[in-house]
Amino acid sequence: MYHIKNLEQYLTDYKYSVEEPELFWEGIAKNNFTWQKKWDKVLSFDFSKPEFKWFEGAKLNITENCIDRHLKENGNKTAIIFEPNDPKEKEEHISYNELHARVCKFANVLKSQGIKKGDRVCIYLPMIPDLAISTLACARIGAIHSVVFAGFSSNSLATRINDSECKMVITSDGSFRGNKCIDLKSIVDEALNSCNTIETVLVAKRTNSSVSMNTPRDKWLQPLLDAAKDECPIEIMDSEDPLFILYTSGSTGKPKGMVHSTAGYMVNTAYTFKNIFQYEENDVYWCTADIGWITGHSYIVYGPLLNGATTLMFEGVPSYPDWGRFWEVVQKYKVNQFYTAPTAIRAIAKENISHVKKYDLSSLKILGTVGEPINEEAWQWYYSNIGQKKCPVVDTWWQTETGSIMIAPVPSAIEPIPTFATLPLPGIQPILVDADGALIKDHLVEGNLCIQFPWPSIARTIWGDHQRYKDTYFSKFKDRYFTGDGAIRNEKGYYRITGRVDDIILVSGHNLGTAPIEDCINEHPLIAESAIVGYPDDVKGNALYGFLTIKSSINGNEHEELYRQINKLISDKIGPIAKLDKIQFCSGLPKTRSGKIMRRILRKIACKDADNLGDTTTLLNPEVVDEIINHAV
Ligand code: WTA
Repeated sequence: MYHIKNLEQYLTDYKYSVEEPELFWEGIAKNNFTWQKKWDKVLSFDFSKPEFKWFEGAKLNITENCIDRHLKENGNKTAIIFEPNDPKEKEEHISYNELHARVCKFANVLKSQGIKKGDRVCIYLPMIPDLAISTLACARIGAIHSVVFAGFSSNSLATRINDSECKMVITSDGSFRGNKCIDLKSIVDEALNSCNTIETVLVAKRTNSSVSMNTPRDKWLQPLLDAAKDECPIEIMDSEDPLFILYTSGSTGKPKGMVHSTAGYMVNTAYTFKNIFQYEENDVYWCTADIGWITGHSYIVYGPLLNGATTLMFEGVPSYPDWGRFWEVVQKYKVNQFYTAPTAIRAIAKENISHVKKYDLSSLKILGTVGEPINEEAWQWYYSNIGQKKCPVVDTWWQTETGSIMIAPVPSAIEPIPTFATLPLPGIQPILVDADGALIKDHLVEGNLCIQFPWPSIARTIWGDHQRYKDTYFSKFKDRYFTGDGAIRNEKGYYRITGRVDDIILVSGHNLGTAPIEDCINEHPLIAESAIVGYPDDVKGNALYGFLTIKSSINGNEHEELYRQINKLISDKIGPIAKLDKIQFCSGLPKTRSGKIMRRILRKIACKDADNLGDTTTLLNPEVVDEIINHAV
C-alpha cells in the first residue's frame, strides 16, 4: 500500500482511503517506520475546536526514522550531497553513518548549551549542511526548530524569534549567494537588539568574514562540535509533540507560526515523497527550494531521509556563474528527480537555450513544480527542454499548513496535463464550495478549495494563537479546512488551482501578505495610506503594485526619492522579496462607504483591465477612480 505502482492501485487505494481512512493510514504507518510504541488510536478530531490527533499514544523519534533505521543496511549510502554556491569549491557527500555522527554531535552541543525538549531554537542559516543537521539535531532531542529563511531581514527575524520565544539562534558568519556575500551574523545582532529570550547564539563559519562576537552569548560552533560525543540517544516523543514551527504570511497582521507535530507529519511526508517522486534505491533526488520554506522541510530533509534517499542540497542560485548552473548540477550528479518552482523555470526559459543544451540531462525521470500555478508555456518549456518529452511534469499543490503534497498527478498512475494539479493523493479529500459554503458538484465552475477530512500532516495550530488558527482556516466554512485558494475541476475530476482568494500574493512562489507590507509603508512619515495589489509578471508570476497617498504634496524629483526610500524601508523591515515593482502616488484611494479600501478596483487597474470595473457609483469617493486610471503606471 505504501508505493502506488499504477492507476489501478491508485484508484483502489484512494477509494479505501476515503471509506476507511484510519485503516488506510494505519497500514502505511505500521509497516514503514520504527515506533518505540504503537498508537492506541489512529485518529480523533473535532473541526469545531479545531483539534486533530493522529496515532495518539504512539512514541517515536523522527530522526531514528530518518537516520538510525538506515544504518545497518545503508550506512555508507550518501544521505546528503552538498553542492556549494561556487562550482569550483569541492562538494560534500555525507553518508548516513556520517549524518548520524554529525547530528548526534550537534544534538550534544544543543544539550550542553541548556536546550531541552520543548525549547524553541531559531535556525537562520544558508543552505549548508549545518542547516539540515541542526534541524535534525533539534528533532533528536525534542527541541522545536523554527527555521527562518536567511533572506529575511533582521526585523522579520526578530518578530519570529519573539513570537515563539526562542532560547537559541543558530547562524553563520555569512552566506554566499551568486556573487554576493551576505553578512548574516550582523543581521542576527541587529535582530537581537529587540529580543530578550535568546540565551545563546551558535555561529557556524562559512564565509570567514570578520564578525563581532558578543560574549558570552555568542559561541563559535566548530570547537563545540569537535568536543562533542558522536552518540546521542533519541528523546522519546509523543506522536502529537510539536516537531517544528514554520512561519507563513497571513493576510493580516504578523506571520503565522504553523505548528507541525511528529508522527502524522512523518508518515505523510514519507508516503508522498515516495509516490510523487517514485523514488528508487540509488536515485539521486534534488529539490532546489531553501530549507527555510516548507518545501525544503518536507522534501529536502524529512521526506527523502525517511525513505533512505540521497538528497541534494544546493547553496547557490540558478544564474551563477551562469544560467546553466541547474543543468550542470543535474549532469554532475546524474539527478533523477528534479523539483523546482515555476518562477525559476520562467526565469531560465527567458535566457539562451544554449545554457540547457550544453548538458546531458538524460538521467532525469521526473520533474516536479511547486509554489504557484504553472502557466502552460512554462510547463511546455520544462517538459520539452528539460524532460525532453520523456519525464512527467508533476504539478504539486500544497501549503505550509498542509505539511505534505495534497493534489498532484502520481506519475506511475496519472498522465499529467498542463496547468492542472489533477487528482488528490490517497487520504486527501478536496471539495469545492461556493461563497456560502454549499458544495459545488458541477465541473468547470470556480469555487473555494476546501479539504473535508483531516490528513496526518495538517498543521495543528498557530503558535500561541489557536483562535487565529480557527478563524483563518475553519470558520469561513463549517467542518472543513479552507485553503484560501480558488480552484476549478474538469469533467475528469482534475483540479486546476486558480490562485489565492484572499489578500495573499504569490511573488516568485513566496507568500506575501499585503497588510504587513502596507503597515510597513505607512510607517514612512510622508505616507498617509497605501494599498498593495498583485499584477501578472512573466517571471515572478505576480509583481507588486503600490497605490500610495502622501500627506503633503511633493514634486516629481521627490517622488523618485520617496520611491527609493519606501523600497528600502520594505527591504529592511520585511526583506527584498517584498519590494514594490510599481508605485503610484494618488490623491485618494477608492473606498466603500464604510471606509474599506476597494482593492478589487485597484487590482483591475494594476492588471490593465480598467474597462471592466463594474459599478463604482456606490463608492465614497468615485472621483478618485478616473484620476488613478489616468495616471496608472
Ligand atoms: C500556492 C508551498 C498552484 C497556493 C508548498 C498555496 C500553488 C500557496 C501550487 C502555499 C501549485 C502552491 N499550483 N498554486 N502547484 N503550490 N501553490 O505555504 O496558493 O509557501 O495556497 O507552500 O502556494 O504556499 P506555501
